[in-house]
Amino acid sequence: MMMVQFSKRVPADGTDAVGAILKAAADPKIISFAGGLPAPELFPVKEMKAAVDAAFDEHGRELMQYGAAKGVTALRELILKHVKEKENVTGELDNVLVTTGSEQVLDLVGKALIDPGDVVLVEQPTYLCALDVFKSYGGRFVSVAMDEDGMRMDALEDALKANPTAKLLYTVPNFQNPTGRTMPVERRKKLAELASKYDITVLEDNPYGEIRFAGKHVPAVKSFDKDGHVFYMSTFSKTLAPGFRLGWVVAPKEVVDKLTVLKQSADLHSDNLAQYGVVEFFKHNDVDAHVKEISDLYGKRKQLMIEGMKKYFPSSVKYTNPEGGMFLWVEVPGVDDTVAVFKECLKNNVAFVPGDPFFAGKPQPGAFRLNYSNMKEDKIEEGLKRLGDTLKKVVGEK
Ligand SMILES: Cc1ncc(COP(=O)(O)O)c(C=O)c1O
Repeated sequence: MMMVQFSKRVPADGTDAVGAILKAAADPKIISFAGGLPAPELFPVKEMKAAVDAAFDEHGRELMQYGAAKGVTALRELILKHVKEKENVTGELDNVLVTTGSEQVLDLVGKALIDPGDVVLVEQPTYLCALDVFKSYGGRFVSVAMDEDGMRMDALEDALKANPTAKLLYTVPNFQNPTGRTMPVERRKKLAELASKYDITVLEDNPYGEIRFAGKHVPAVKSFDKDGHVFYMSTFSKTLAPGFRLGWVVAPKEVVDKLTVLKQSADLHSDNLAQYGVVEFFKHNDVDAHVKEISDLYGKRKQLMIEGMKKYFPSSVKYTNPEGGMFLWVEVPGVDDTVAVFKECLKNNVAFVPGDPFFAGKPQPGAFRLNYSNMKEDKIEEGLKRLGDTLKKVVGEK
């Protein structure tokens, strides 16, 4: 067979650690907290079918034709209204680009900003697919320490001083993937201030902010941005359905123009049927009530997780207690090899994602991510019992 000369961008064989983990965890015997999927039982299937029908009735020929790279105007208007209402993020139509999932925002911003060797500041740990994307453009990562309140601003300022040419700072301030941590308002103000002071672009990724089941809403970093240093991105994946692949970015017009050119060469435009379907869905449904239903279910599941961990985990184990989102983060002291613990857990028919791939630099040993949004209530306790039994063996606690 011909030897294909892949570019340097292509990941080496055997480096898809998470793919391997999800595959191993897919056995039906296993109770898996490893994935990151929304609860499908709450997908508004009937309502979305009606919305898609209405979209065909209203815009049949238009939606079957090629469309504008920036996205359907009615959807961009809806997004503007939505981000103003939910996050106090303001802008004009020219500030919004519809993307094929918010994952595409990561890709377009990476492509637009990062040359090989450019420094990208990231939270430690952070969303692993963002690491993969920025790495593919040659980004050099500098990790910024976190505490229970998300990224530490003193650590960020040190990193900015030490890396004056850094191009991009990536943050997930609400119910972060993987830790579930949320940044309080004072830090967000400070972050916007530091972005201005050190003249760095902040990419604020907020897929989970609306899925809040406790505590009070915290406004977006972007709402404190006075001079266009913050790009705000979000998605319909967690509030409606990830399968529609619709996300967006709100950024200065000059930036959106460049991202639009890059989007055009990537996929011309996002799917028109999905875009008009979402517009019609919003017209005919109480979306806030739907999102509340999702939040309530995830809140209930998270609570069962906390109760199960209290009951079954060794006393030395620490975990986060998120007020929203889909994930929590566990730290087991005295563990050197988290993947070895994962393998032990698999033998006991329970799974998680080891923390290692979420770190740009040296991983924190003994840390891992648990997903609860996709876990039926009746499985949670048994899953945590299995996990706790294995962890007790690992840390030597009876
Ligand atoms: C932090 C974060 N950003 C972006 C995405 C991408 O989501 P989507 O492309 O479905 O909008 C995800 C998906 O899980 C995520 O966790």
